[in-house]
Amino acid sequence: MKQRDAASDWIAEALALRLKVDKKLTLVQQLYCALKEWIQHGELAAGDLLPSSRHLSGMLGISRNTVLAAMDRLLAEGLLSAHQGAGLYVARLPTILPRAEIASPLPVRYSSRGQRLLKLGETLSNGHHAFAPGVPALDLFPREQWQRLLRRHYHHAEMGWMDYQTGGGLPELKAVLCDYLRLSRAVRCQPEQIVITQGAQQAFELITQLLTDHGDSMWMEEPGYGGAQACFLAAGLSITPVPVDEQGLNPSLAPANSPPPRLIYVTPSHQYPIGVTMPTPRRLALLDHASHAGSWIIEDDYDSEFRYDTPPTPSLQGLAAQTSVIYVGTFSKVLYPGLRLGYLVLPDTLAEAFKLAHARLHREGNYPVQSALAEFIANGHFSRHISRMRSAYRQRQACLRQALAPAVTKGLKLSEGHAGMHLLATLQSAEEEALLVKSANESGLTLSPLSRYYLSGKKHPGLVLGYAGSTEDQLLESGRWLSDAYLSIRNN
Ligand SMILES: Cc1ncc(COP(=O)(O)O)c(C=O)c1O
Repeated sequence: MKQRDAASDWIAEALALRLKVDKKLTLVQQLYCALKEWIQHGELAAGDLLPSSRHLSGMLGISRNTVLAAMDRLLAEGLLSAHQGAGLYVARLPTILPRAEIASPLPVRYSSRGQRLLKLGETLSNGHHAFAPGVPALDLFPREQWQRLLRRHYHHAEMGWMDYQTGGGLPELKAVLCDYLRLSRAVRCQPEQIVITQGAQQAFELITQLLTDHGDSMWMEEPGYGGAQACFLAAGLSITPVPVDEQGLNPSLAPANSPPPRLIYVTPSHQYPIGVTMPTPRRLALLDHASHAGSWIIEDDYDSEFRYDTPPTPSLQGLAAQTSVIYVGTFSKVLYPGLRLGYLVLPDTLAEAFKLAHARLHREGNYPVQSALAEFIANGHFSRHISRMRSAYRQRQACLRQALAPAVTKGLKLSEGHAGMHLLATLQSAEEEALLVKSANESGLTLSPLSRYYLSGKKHPGLVLGYAGSTEDQLLESGRWLSDAYLSIRNN
């Protein structure tokens, strides 16, 4: 249906409602008054096409002459104009009458949780840019194949999928996901333990809603992932930043007097943004610590598929039979972030409650998309895409390194880049970081300063340089710019 036809129907429906109300006037008067009022107050704008008299008389169940009489009056008063053979349009009026005295707007007072959230929102990067961290190669995604699959799954969508859902996701998707997680990530799971969410972000939110109260204490990696941080801060949790060393979050560096954490958030496969992998002894120490403190560990396994030299490390969740680990995964990196699909793998003891709360709070759905994804995984497209992206990202990383080589010879330190979708460039000082970010802004580039990823304490200066989402040419060009900017700052 064209937009014009839809608008005609809305006008006719609104008139039908008015006709039922204004019973004292004749039908012609009612029609005339309603349309005049809407035109004078701007609800019908100059140039809007009115429904034809035939259409209106049919929709309203009144004679066409009645409609024409009302329209003639509006035409005579200059509120409508007739275009030969094209119907009646709202005329351009010199002034639009104000609808009513404009009351002063309600003063906005954000909740303290809202204020915290908005403060964090300030660091949200706007738009796609050359070094955007965490953005996959949208240009290499098999869009046509995916769209064909989506079309087919929408076409054959079951009627039941149109209803409210309470099962924590489409069973077919949970089944293939379970196989994938067991084989590729050594996650101990059964489909019943999985809850499909709108990305990792919603999974974090659900965890805070169900397992924490306002003011509860939690541990967060320092530096750490801003998205998760936003969620925990918005939930009013008291976050203890625990320093990350070369083995990831180090429980022994937590402040001695900090209360036992209700939650511990970690990215053990590939710490975000530092990039280190947590070795097994540290994982066991963390599990041990969590079990003594009565803490749930959130394992955010966001990009472990992208390892370039070594096989992926098995998940933390799979290390022990009865663990307090809640495994969170996302399709934002392996496919694309706009898909908004992620998942939780929950201990048996939590699974049913999470499904219930998810259905209550978020209303799950979009089963045709989940069904298309299940087929994408089952037919091997998913693993083929991951393996193609692995070689593309290796190549893209090499381009960035090549472009930054002159700066590296003069002291810029780059992370090893064995995994993931970004490189970390370590800088000498906070001033250097600030100067580079400022000069990038002035040149129309965006850099993500490492200091932004710290909650408090000693911030290490650096840059988080995403490379997965940019083409090789873009990386060479922006990388050369960064290298030159670094050299000119060093030389001054
Ligand atoms: C550490 C980390 N976890 C998870 C995510 C994915 O979040 P989502 O699934 O909400 O897109 C990201 C995305 O940038 C991330 O960097």
